[in-house]
Amino acid sequence: MNAPGKPFLIEMENVSFAYDEGSLALKNVNFRVRAGEFVSMLASNGSGKTTLIKVLAKLLTPQQGTVRIAGRDVRAMTAGHLYQQIGLLLQDPNDQLFAPTVEDDVAFGPRNLGLPDVEVEQRAEESLAAVGVAALRKRAIHHLSFGERKRVCLAGVLAMRPKILVLDEPTAGLDPAGESQMLQLLSRLNREQGISLVLATHSVDLLPLFADRIYVLNRGEVVKDGAPEEIFADQEMMHRVGLRLPYISRLIHEMRCYDGVRIEGLPLTLREARLRLLELIPPQLIMESLKEKTP
Ligand SMILES: Nc1ncnc2c1ncn2[C@@H]1O[C@H](COP(=O)(O)OP(=O)(O)OP(=O)(O)O)[C@@H](O)[C@H]1O
Ligand SMILES: [Mg+2]
Repeated sequence: MNAPGKPFLIEMENVSFAYDEGSLALKNVNFRVRAGEFVSMLASNGSGKTTLIKVLAKLLTPQQGTVRIAGRDVRAMTAGHLYQQIGLLLQDPNDQLFAPTVEDDVAFGPRNLGLPDVEVEQRAEESLAAVGVAALRKRAIHHLSFGERKRVCLAGVLAMRPKILVLDEPTAGLDPAGESQMLQLLSRLNREQGISLVLATHSVDLLPLFADRIYVLNRGEVVKDGAPEEIFADQEMMHRVGLRLPYISRLIHEMRCYDGVRIEGLPLTLREARLRLLELIPPQLIMESLKEKTP
């Protein structure tokens, strides 16, 4: 959801972080997210996505810089208060699930908040339904597939009703249908409930359909941030940081370079590409093909 003018919910200023062993995993990072924004961090392996997410969620303390959530310095926030604002989905669901059954796991957070049993039940039921796994409620966690585990994790996070969702590679390990369903679900939560989203990924094909803004990281540094069109238009930068363009954009780029097809701009989605290509077909030909189809 585009959110110009809304207040910043996340503000990271000049953050640097080094693991004990040595070199900086984050270097002077400035990263801001407005209320209601869908922001993605795009970077290749080892660029600092998970580190940035852990610093945001106060699982790691930066040696330099400040992190503010809803205007408050996280150093002054208790874990309880922080996790009511931020819902965190880790890269590997097995690091996050620990109760024996699905319903116990999803109910754990709300129960810990001291909510009455009826509300705990209701939140668990709603969250499981929202991620499409209501039927798994009674199942043992260790009998679930990887994709089902990811959804149950997300249900557990949603049951806390956070204002901000921070997701580390939420689509990694999902099949193509699962990947698209997960992004559609996240986009719906963003649009309908106004939840702000921060999503780390290195997958570029579906991102332009959903993200309002993209931060590109490389070796712990923010290289660029902007709307998907601005990011993908900078092909030299994408190449330099080891990222590729969405497949559809590459196809159009190659048609332009090698086949001389005169297409304006660089479409990022199938729909845009289809419209741009249709613009090149003489209207007469389209009319004739429509006539052929009409019985
Ligand atoms: N616990 C750790 N101890 C020491 N170095 C670490 C640790 N965790 C990560 N690093 C290093 O910090 C850098 C950033 O790692 P990080 O996990 O944040 O990258 P990432 O962008 O999430 O990568 P991926 O796409 O593989 O998940 C890498 O060079 C990595 O080797
Ligand atoms: Mg990572």
